[in-house]
Amino acid sequence: MLFSASRINTWAVLVATVRLAASVPLSPAAVECDRAVLAEAAEAYVTSQKAGSLAPLQRFVASGWEYEENNKRIDATKSVLTKALGIDHRRTIYDLVACATFTELIAANNPEPYVIGTQIRHGADGKVTLVDSVASTTGSWLFNAQNTLKYALQEKWDIIPEGKRDSREKIKAAGDAYMSMWDDAKASSLVPWGAPCARLEGGAYTGRGDEDTCRQGIPTNSSQAPNTRRRYVIDESMGSVNILCVWEHMMNAADSHEFRLENGKVRYIHTMTECGGRVCRL
Ligand SMILES: *[C@@H]1O[C@H](CO)[C@@H](O)[C@H](O)[C@H]1NC(C)=O
Repeated sequence: MLFSASRINTWAVLVATVRLAASVPLSPAAVECDRAVLAEAAEAYVTSQKAGSLAPLQRFVASGWEYEENNKRIDATKSVLTKALGIDHRRTIYDLVACATFTELIAANNPEPYVIGTQIRHGADGKVTLVDSVASTTGSWLFNAQNTLKYALQEKWDIIPEGKRDSREKIKAAGDAYMSMWDDAKASSLVPWGAPCARLEGGAYTGRGDEDTCRQGIPTNSSQAPNTRRRYVIDESMGSVNILCVWEHMMNAADSHEFRLENGKVRYIHTMTECGGRVCRL
């Protein structure tokens, strides 16, 4: 009796040790956060926006979580999340390294239409530490939610098969090069322009057949104020990076740019730019 019990214990310890060793990552950078945890919180966020209530999101947030809207830390109970919005379209991308998501929401069929871009950041325990939104609406740069919806629905943002994915670094560098065209004369040559490539800028669309229309209207003056305080969410499986920033050269607007690369080249760009409740002007 004693003998066999001790044998079982030894065996159990051995199995546990082997399993522990196998699950220890090679380096901290190899730790990925749980996609399901990110997805649950993103889902709750969308449910909150539909309901106009923080309640659905509440059980996923850390104590002391923060809320930022249009580049300002504000009280979430006074945010756009307290407006019930019918959502016509949404897409979420997942950053399993930074433990963050970005969700694009198009609410075109509301008395007060919105197109919202939201980064949600998670702590080590999976709880939400920050909800960071650009909430564009009437008066925002080229705002037209019906057009945003129409064009967004024409695009194909499918999962890119493993083996055809661009690296995190490549995706980020493409987004950064584009965002630096206002203050760096060399930046546009570093953007891996694709053809076709389409930019959905507010409700304005450049897409036309197989043409590289993303170059259309890019800055010719690279001595302007930069796009600063960049915050990133990167999803290799979608070829995408979202960058929230301060759009200094246009009224210090709150700006969201989401890029999708396919085969190393920019395929789509979506922008939202909100000018502190005023009408955006160059
Ligand atoms: C470029 O932008 C800067 C900052 O707005 C401005 O001072 C300058 O005159 C512009 N240069 C040209 C050539 O338009």
